[in-house]
Amino acid sequence: MKKIGVIGAGAMGSGIAQVAAQNGHEVILSDTNEGTLAKSKKSLEKVMNRLVEKGRRTQEETEAIQARIQYTTELKDFAGTELIIEAIVERLDVKKSVFAALEQIVSDTCILASNTSSLSIASIASACQQSSRVLGIHFFNPAPLMPLVEIIPAVQTSDAVLHEAKNLIDSWGKVSVVAKDTPGFIVNRVARPFYGEALRIYEEGIADMPSIDWAMKQLGGFRMGPFELMDFIGNDINYAVTESVFQAFYNDPRYKPSFTQKRHAEAGWLGRKSGRGYYNYTEVSTNAPANEDEVLGQKIVDRILAMLINEAADALFWNIASAKDIDLAMTKGVNYPKGLLAWANEIGLDRCVAAMDELYDEYREDRYRCSPLLRRNAAQGVSFSFD
Ligand SMILES: NC(=O)c1ccc[n+]([C@@H]2O[C@H](COP(=O)([O-])OP(=O)(O)OC[C@H]3O[C@@H](n4cnc5c(N)ncnc54)[C@H](O)[C@@H]3O)[C@@H](O)[C@H]2O)c1
Repeated sequence: MKKIGVIGAGAMGSGIAQVAAQNGHEVILSDTNEGTLAKSKKSLEKVMNRLVEKGRRTQEETEAIQARIQYTTELKDFAGTELIIEAIVERLDVKKSVFAALEQIVSDTCILASNTSSLSIASIASACQQSSRVLGIHFFNPAPLMPLVEIIPAVQTSDAVLHEAKNLIDSWGKVSVVAKDTPGFIVNRVARPFYGEALRIYEEGIADMPSIDWAMKQLGGFRMGPFELMDFIGNDINYAVTESVFQAFYNDPRYKPSFTQKRHAEAGWLGRKSGRGYYNYTEVSTNAPANEDEVLGQKIVDRILAMLINEAADALFWNIASAKDIDLAMTKGVNYPKGLLAWANEIGLDRCVAAMDELYDEYREDRYRCSPLLRRNAAQGVSFSFD
């Protein structure tokens, strides 16, 4: 494939265009907003200059990368592209109209992909006459740095299109995983308890936020604590994803959003970007220290980890992806210290089931139901296998 199109020059589209250009493709990058295009060009220039300063790329290489990207406001410039990745606003109606318009411009063999985080690929594909050419190619932010890419075939997508897209993304040095077209795909589904259970532990008054973060980092081995990570992502964004996953799963209590997060978002305490979230980033000294109680800390880690493992096992139970891809997704997409299914094998599936059953017995809430696959494998003494 020579020529790649990227629609939307925001955070994701700019990053994806950079990745494609770094891999030798001619890239057409479009946006309806000329100012955004200019900003995108400028920020790529900065990134490239930094790479030269650090000695990672030569001046000639970075100039060639930049020269390969053509910026435009016109969709008609996408004629001649062989793959287009759409990264515009997260609205189904807008995406559908863009996909329908694109089909009038490109050749019959051009693959059309969406970088959507939460919309159904089948719905987007339904806007096209040749819907077998449409699939999801979901990058993580920032796209040039995060290795994971989720590839999501819709029910309409042809096998040939799926394989061609996957091979191309692999050839870019990315780690691709294939996920079913279901809410949150792999990462945004399996990661929900990292936030949700931490918020619940806080709301029950079991521990405060710094102590939960301390436990997950110090004892759990995670790079960031749940509250630090929510502040980093933005409470508005993280809350919106949780709410949309909850609704998309027909209000399954496992994904229930939290009032604490809602109120923080409503208060404008969005996290780092607004100077204040769960933590205060302008007056750091006002943040309470963590209670470094190892017994309490281990309880917190065990509870959140049991919920994460259960979610990963359930994703496998519903054939959302293979065991190997579920573990790769969590280590390469959100930097978990271990794949959750491998972690379950290490802990022992019996212990994971017991942790879930203990929570269920205490709360009698469907939120804490153990995945049938986790229970079945534990009963049969079978570990998760990654063949
Ligand atoms: N931000 C993330 O962390 C992240 C991660 C993975 C996937 N995504 C998904 O990627 C997509 C883009 O997200 P983002 O964070 O880059 O958004 P963004 O708001 O930074 O950028 C979107 C860009 O699309 C442009 N745009 C809107 N309508 C357009 C149209 N009809 N034609 C051309 N350009 C148009 C806007 O002007 C804007 O520049 C969304 O679908 C989002 O769900 C985001």
